[in-house]
Amino acid sequence: MCPIPELRQQFPILTSKNEEPFIYLDSGATSQKPQQVIEAIDSFYREQNANVHRGLHTLSAQATSAFEQAREKVAKFLNVQSNEIVWTSGATDSINIIANGIKAQLSQGDVICVSALEHHANIVPWQEICKEKGCILKVLPITKSGILDLKSSVELIFEQKPKIVAISHASNALGNIQPVEKIIEAAHKVTATTVVDGAQAFMHLRPDLRKLDCDFYVFSAHKALGPTGLGVLYGKYDQLNALNPLRFGGEMIKEVSFEMTSFQDAPSKFEAGTPNISAVIGFSAALDFLNSIDYKELQQYEQGLYDCLLTQLRSINGIIIYGDTENNIGTVSFRYKNEHHFDLATFLNGYGIAIRSGHHCTQPLMKALDIDGTIRVSLAFYNNHDDIDAFIQALKESIDLLEI
Ligand SMILES: Cc1ncc(COP(=O)(O)O)c(C=O)c1O
Repeated sequence: MCPIPELRQQFPILTSKNEEPFIYLDSGATSQKPQQVIEAIDSFYREQNANVHRGLHTLSAQATSAFEQAREKVAKFLNVQSNEIVWTSGATDSINIIANGIKAQLSQGDVICVSALEHHANIVPWQEICKEKGCILKVLPITKSGILDLKSSVELIFEQKPKIVAISHASNALGNIQPVEKIIEAAHKVTATTVVDGAQAFMHLRPDLRKLDCDFYVFSAHKALGPTGLGVLYGKYDQLNALNPLRFGGEMIKEVSFEMTSFQDAPSKFEAGTPNISAVIGFSAALDFLNSIDYKELQQYEQGLYDCLLTQLRSINGIIIYGDTENNIGTVSFRYKNEHHFDLATFLNGYGIAIRSGHHCTQPLMKALDIDGTIRVSLAFYNNHDDIDAFIQALKESIDLLEI
């Protein structure tokens, strides 16, 4: 097993010898890709390219087998069954499939709860379903510092008896690890269906979904070392199979005639058309990579980086940090005094520092915090202390420029 700090060497974009400095602190937006993921995609197209579930020829059988093995691998990673895993195009797509698929089970006046910390991808699809079905969207509240108010949220769930509770496992804007176990427990007491958006949490927290006991869990491969254009939708089998499909066409059918069409069972009924085969192959390599890392060591390493980043940030006068810094996936969201986040981000880019600034697709959260955006630094295990030192140095110099 490779020591964690040495894993960085396996990420070509982080080790290429460019003239310009490049410090990547934006893994919340997308993760970087290790060599073995890039090679898996490359060799799929060079040696194995064929469509899946279609041809009888050898190459198609090989591609199908690799494709289905990847489904088994992700199921094992999450401790669920492979027929509970649907390939989608991303977390956004997965949530849309659930929201659309469950709407036939909803009636006018039914309540859907989301938290005040959600990414727009876990708000807007539910809002649209509310419009269509006459349902009511209720918001699980947060405290002034941007942490889920667990007591009030549980009270709201007991009082409103929602049909659906949709919540992120970790906030993309602030990095907070949410108390999803407690929310799921409360939601199940009132027989609500639980949907967990694991887009940010999957790689950092490696959830055991049997233990978590949520009904649905979604994430995107690209935030976990995999390629873009691929997502995962997990659902407890009966609940997954009870969803209506969003897309129709080849592969998802049992029988088609001009009079009537019948559909496959899950997961096939949600995978109409040719899937993103090469991305699945690439993600399979990403899972191998993640499986090869000792998880405890990885957590300790990431925590060490995060603590170092927080300590240094807190030592700078005028920095305001938002969210839960105790339970966090390694993301810091901050502002400098009343300065616009865009100005600092622009200066930082001049130093080769890649961070994100803005509302992070969480406008309701920004409104609740009474700000228009933050600077977000999101870490991953391929970062090191030099990255943090370079960032802090650049930040101090940028602040000096702002103050001129
Ligand atoms: C918490 C959260 N949910 C959903 C999404 C949407 O992911 P994607 O754009 O990959 O569909 C993101 C992306 O940043 C996210 O951070």
